[in-house]
Amino acid sequence: MEQILSGVSVAKEIKNKLSGFIRELSLVPHMALVQVGSDPASGFYVQNIIKQAAKLGCEVDLTELPETTREEELLQFLNKLNDDAKVDGIMIQKPLPKHISDHKVNQTVSPDKDIDAVNPVNLGLLMMESSGFIPCTPYAVYLMMRYYGIDATGKKLCIIGRSNVVGKPLAAIMLSKKPCCNATVTVCHSKTKDLPSIVAESEIIVAAIGVPAFVKESWITPDSVLIDVGINEVSGTDGKSSFIGDIDYNACLNKAKAITPVPGGVGSVTTAVLLMNLVKAALLNRKLNKFVDGFDDLIFNAK
Ligand SMILES: NC(=O)c1ccc[n+]([C@@H]2O[C@H](COP(=O)([O-])OP(=O)(O)OC[C@H]3O[C@@H](n4cnc5c(N)ncnc54)[C@H](OP(=O)(O)O)[C@@H]3O)[C@@H](O)[C@H]2O)c1
Repeated sequence: MEQILSGVSVAKEIKNKLSGFIRELSLVPHMALVQVGSDPASGFYVQNIIKQAAKLGCEVDLTELPETTREEELLQFLNKLNDDAKVDGIMIQKPLPKHISDHKVNQTVSPDKDIDAVNPVNLGLLMMESSGFIPCTPYAVYLMMRYYGIDATGKKLCIIGRSNVVGKPLAAIMLSKKPCCNATVTVCHSKTKDLPSIVAESEIIVAAIGVPAFVKESWITPDSVLIDVGINEVSGTDGKSSFIGDIDYNACLNKAKAITPVPGGVGSVTTAVLLMNLVKAALLNRKLNKFVDGFDDLIFNAK
């Protein structure tokens, strides 16, 4: 196994596979992308999704709604997208303005078009190990593990962070009977006692906290495989900003068995996974379910 686990090559492999699939089946998957307000970071992510989707031959309809959009208006708009046969997948860029309930929005997206897997139905299906959409970031972690042959079977795996978008769904994936999973999972959070010793006794550590360079070199061992989900903007002494992860990368690089970089790690795979979910949604919308059954393996057999 390589020591530095690049997400760039994983994303490239996924997109190559998707592109072949799209061509073979003459698909033009169609995504409705919704942004409310004008958060600058969200704007960057939205443009990146549009660019990457276009390269694969997917269509993206971006709807930019003003910050003042009422919750009811957004829910009505989402219902229109749910009913529009042309729309295969719906993605709502977060964060939403504070006056709009994430929960109501998540519940409104039709589970069949829920390519960001925010609807509780899809999260429930994940818990039950049934087919549905899997949230993009934890799915990206899983894909990276498959790609690099990191087999968590029977191993102690610790996830730091218990959010609904990363920590909890990732715990469900890693506990599942999928290939490379079947791990013994510990989920840690801000109230966890003696986190360093839990990290030290785990073979695989996933950090999804949102605190720059939180995981220290002294907590890990030469057998540690470190997967960093964190993306934190920090200012250097020169006043320029850059992005670093939740793991102290430079220090841990000298000791860990393997580590994902930031940027260029899990974050690079996330958009590719969103497009993978879009293609899956397009197949379901065209009643091409037989392709969906083997879809994960088509991608995962990348290496
Ligand atoms: N790579 C990607 O594509 C991608 C996608 C999404 C998010 N991210 C990044 O991943 C990170 C986590 O995102 P998120 O949405 O999951 O964040 P979140 O909703 O803020 O959750 C953070 C989690 O970390 C825990 N935590 C915070 N401080 C801690 C501490 N000192 N010790 C132990 N646990 C602590 C929190 O515990 P409590 O529950 O006890 O508060 C919470 O469970 C962020 O840096 C975010 O930017 C990356």
